Amino acid sequence: MKSFTVLQIVALIAGTMAYPNMEPVKNGGRPSGILVDEDAVPVVNVTTCGGYINSSSATISYQPGASIRADQVCVWVVKAPYDSIRFHLVSTGLGENDGLYLTRFINLIPGFQYNISTIGENYTYTAGPVLVTLSVGHAPTRGFTLQFFSSGLADVSTPDYTGYTSLTLNNGNFSYPADGSNYRNNERAFFLVNPTVPSIRTLRFTRMDLESASGCTYDAVVIYNWYENRYNQITRVCGTQLPPVLTLESGLGLVTFETDSSVVQTGFSFEWL
Ligand SMILES: *[C@@H]1O[C@H](CO)[C@@H](O)[C@H](O)[C@H]1NC(C)=O
Ligand SMILES: *[C@@H]1O[C@H](CO)[C@@H](O)[C@H](O)[C@H]1NC(C)=O
Ligand SMILES: *[C@@H]1O[C@H](CO)[C@@H](O)[C@H](O)[C@H]1NC(C)=O
Ligand SMILES: *[C@@H]1O[C@H](CO)[C@@H](O)[C@H](O)[C@H]1NC(C)=O
Ligand SMILES: *[C@@H]1O[C@H](CO)[C@@H](O)[C@H](O)[C@H]1NC(C)=O
Repeated sequence: MKSFTVLQIVALIAGTMAYPNMEPVKNGGRPSGILVDEDAVPVVNVTTCGGYINSSSATISYQPGASIRADQVCVWVVKAPYDSIRFHLVSTGLGENDGLYLTRFINLIPGFQYNISTIGENYTYTAGPVLVTLSVGHAPTRGFTLQFFSSGLADVSTPDYTGYTSLTLNNGNFSYPADGSNYRNNERAFFLVNPTVPSIRTLRFTRMDLESASGCTYDAVVIYNWYENRYNQITRVCGTQLPPVLTLESGLGLVTFETDSSVVQTGFSFEWL
């Protein structure tokens, strides 16, 4: 029991409640290969602006009934274990110039997106992961409470990430891998440039050392800019080609990194400010 994290214990308890006759097993209480019901109540509570949520269900409560500053952008990454994922808005104080979006993120590619605004409506996906993006308009607003529940079969659409970082400071340098060694084969990593203080930011790559290929089909860095309420792909690069210097109008950028099964080099570095 000692080695369990609080989150796993909570998941285990909820799993036991949902399946009173089942022996608790690994992986949040349920074996794969069978249909799993939703948790009776969300097993995790998240109240921060953004975060990585690896759970079968959760409540995301960000400043409900309280104020959020103008232009605030927050991103929650939802990685649920089962392949039917249902979101629903419990309460919202967001206004018509604010947006709360769900974006499917299979294979590190931003896909089908919902603009969620209706309380009680179900917004469902048949596989995850899902990015939840809050994009506040140019005036202060009030927060919301959103819940999600996963159920069904084990979601095998995206294996665990080999790297993930949310860069929330106003500026800095970032290198991957951080220790100067080579990256690995079969990497699936992504990095959010998402300073907590809202402002226009600049993203500038200073070093690229990836396996080179026409179309960057082997190893690649792909960059997205959150603009006009979407993740827009800006570029896909490899080899030693530096991407163009990028202006992040809303202060949110997404850098993804994938590699194939052979040839490893020293990766990349960028600066944001
Ligand atoms: C997510 O949770 C599962 C089950 O608790 C665990 O096996 C896995 O390592 C976790 N993944 C990440 C990226 O934390
Ligand atoms: C989450 O918060 C709600 C309301 O504050 C509470 O009832 C519930 O027990 C909490 N759940 C967890 C897993 O902490
Ligand atoms: C999101 O949906 C709401 C309600 O339907 C609508 O008022 C708003 O304009 C939509 N936002 C975008 C960016 O489509
Ligand atoms: C949303 O899904 C839940 C669980 O399946 C169901 O109980 C509820 O009636 C649905 N709500 C709507 C508005 O469809
Ligand atoms: C990044 O590192 C370079 C070289 O050390 C330094 O000149 C620059 O100020 C750093 N940038 C930020 C935003 O910290």
